Amino acid sequence: MSETRISPNRDNLTKEYATDDIVVEWEPRLCYHSQNCVRSLPQVFDDSRRPWIKVDAAGADEVEAAVARCPSGALRTRRLVAPAAKHQQPLEVRASADGPLLVSGRVRILDPEGAVLFEGERAALCRCGGSANKPFCDGTHKKNGFRG
Ligand code: FES
Repeated sequence: MSETRISPNRDNLTKEYATDDIVVEWEPRLCYHSQNCVRSLPQVFDDSRRPWIKVDAAGADEVEAAVARCPSGALRTRRLVAPAAKHQQPLEVRASADGPLLVSGRVRILDPEGAVLFEGERAALCRCGGSANKPFCDGTHKKNGFRG
């Protein structure tokens, strides 16, 4: 297992944490702190520690499985060795309990002028109206009493 390497601000939005096998990308503007990653693999994802992601604390398959539980698309992975074959998932939009609309499948989110705000396989969109980062959920629904 190789040591975690950190590449800050690849595109001024995303940080990368990598080993020789896998890269974890983290895009903070999309994160609404579901804590799924922390609960799934606490030895890798620990928001009380810096750096908060230590990719080398688990195997690439475990890291990939934990990142797949991220509902917002803020965490993504790229395999560097023996990339797993992925099948295209149909687009799905699911309302979470008292929280955002969770979009999964290949998605591209555009602003009113048609500029791409986000392109990926998961996104969490605000449905409470309170996010300061619309159209993305920023976790405000946990504080404003939203019931959906
Ligand atoms: S649904 Fe999360 S901030 Fe609105």
